[in-house]
Amino acid sequence: MNIAIIGLGYVGLPLCLQFARSGVRVLGLDIDAKKVSALNAGRSYIQHIAAAEIKKLVRAGKFSASTNFSEIGNRQSAIGNEAVAAILICVPTPLKKNRAPDLSFVLQTGKSIAPHLQRGQLVVLESTTYPGTTENELRAVLERGSGLRAGQDFHLAFSPEREDPGNPNSQVAEIPKVIGGFTPACLEAAKKVYARAVRTLVPVANCRTAEAAKLLENVFRGVNIALVNELKSVYAAMDIDVWDVIAAARTKPFGFMPFYPGPGLGGHCIPIDPFYLAWRARQVGQETRFVELAGEINRAMPERVVARVAEALAARKNNMRPASRRPGAARPKVALPAKRWQHVALRATRVLVLGLAYKANVDDDRESPSYALMDLLKARGAQVSYFDPHVPIIRPTREHPHWAGSQSVKWNREIISSFDLVLISTAHDAVDYQQLADWSPLIVDTRNVMTKYQVAAGKVWKA
Ligand SMILES: NC(=O)c1ccc[n+]([C@@H]2O[C@H](COP(=O)([O-])OP(=O)(O)OC[C@H]3O[C@@H](n4cnc5c(N)ncnc54)[C@H](O)[C@@H]3O)[C@@H](O)[C@H]2O)c1
Repeated sequence: MNIAIIGLGYVGLPLCLQFARSGVRVLGLDIDAKKVSALNAGRSYIQHIAAAEIKKLVRAGKFSASTNFSEIGNRQSAIGNEAVAAILICVPTPLKKNRAPDLSFVLQTGKSIAPHLQRGQLVVLESTTYPGTTENELRAVLERGSGLRAGQDFHLAFSPEREDPGNPNSQVAEIPKVIGGFTPACLEAAKKVYARAVRTLVPVANCRTAEAAKLLENVFRGVNIALVNELKSVYAAMDIDVWDVIAAARTKPFGFMPFYPGPGLGGHCIPIDPFYLAWRARQVGQETRFVELAGEINRAMPERVVARVAEALAARKNNMRPASRRPGAARPKVALPAKRWQHVALRATRVLVLGLAYKANVDDDRESPSYALMDLLKARGAQVSYFDPHVPIIRPTREHPHWAGSQSVKWNREIISSFDLVLISTAHDAVDYQQLADWSPLIVDTRNVMTKYQVAAGKVWKA
């Protein structure tokens, strides 16, 4: 079997490798010529994907990459002399400026495929999106551009990706794959393809159900993270450590699943997908109040963390003590409005944000809350730098062009001890936290990582 996978990023590349490993010949298509030539030369541009395996599969003729979409219908393409049986689409689904779904990548891909689409081929959308995208928007561009009909001339399906980047125990082959077909025959065609590479298939009623299942999974995560983020502040005001509470609660063998607080939400999925759902819900006259409230709480986290940083610095400077919400605490002599007070505490301080990637042990900094933290700290007068062993330099992006070109500081005693405070935003395993405890004068920890290390009293503030 030959297949094509379009979009060779965090989702598409591991999928290519899994199919190729399973004996399927894979044509990887992308509009980014640099990625295509890197792959054909056996190089990886994603840190947790080994170059050695790419090289092995390319050499074995199992995998090749191209920018030429005509190869999906070409009987003499780089991967063999038959047209591909299936085309899997793994391109980005971001938001527009007004937070409406941006389907332009999916629709552009559909337009690029359509002129080359052959009778009997299967097209599967894997990108996360709102229910209805596959059978409405994507189907329309494919049918218009090819003159063929979905369900009659070609098969169409949706199968969401469940990639867990950086988790060594999460193998594409072992993660059950939800699949919804446009027709029962489309579903059967999709099952046949995925059965080659994935152990457990989960067929569902239609494309809409599969699209909705993916949104439920991600919204579930966002809502539960919001709950523990809220409880963090509530319990802190009662002098209770939320991390101890979660550790206790997770011993319940049924009906509880632990989620952990943090400095906000990041990545290409959890902060974005709720907007896809909310947008589609509005179209059908429904509200998503619960989901929106969770988003509000999560988006407020960077502000809260920065307030905590200001509090820690002020307490350290000892020249003004913040008003504590705990009963009986001494009030400051001069009350200042919260933001003004933070400016005073943060002005001209040197703050190091530790961890720029949105989650531990990956090099993906998309939508990372570390950027929101750096922006807020800078706006309140702090001099901000970052350290991230996985992100040595910030690439130019649409999201945060003003940080492009900034480089991670070096990790040594002289540099780390020169910062007034280190704010742990993402706790990569590759960081030596005992050295951090020894070198840094003050630490704000949003990930509860410092509890495992020997630290001088009063040095670590949880946030
Ligand atoms: N990253 C994750 O952990 C994850 C997990 C589950 C689902 N998803 C979903 O998977 C989809 C892809 O995400 P990703 O993280 O792999 O994105 P990515 O940005 O890492 O990769 C997307 C790739 O698509 C390419 N591309 C863009 N437009 C194209 C076009 N018209 N034709 C061909 N290639 C094109 C880009 O050059 C890029 O290489 C998104 O919908 C995302 O929500 C991502």
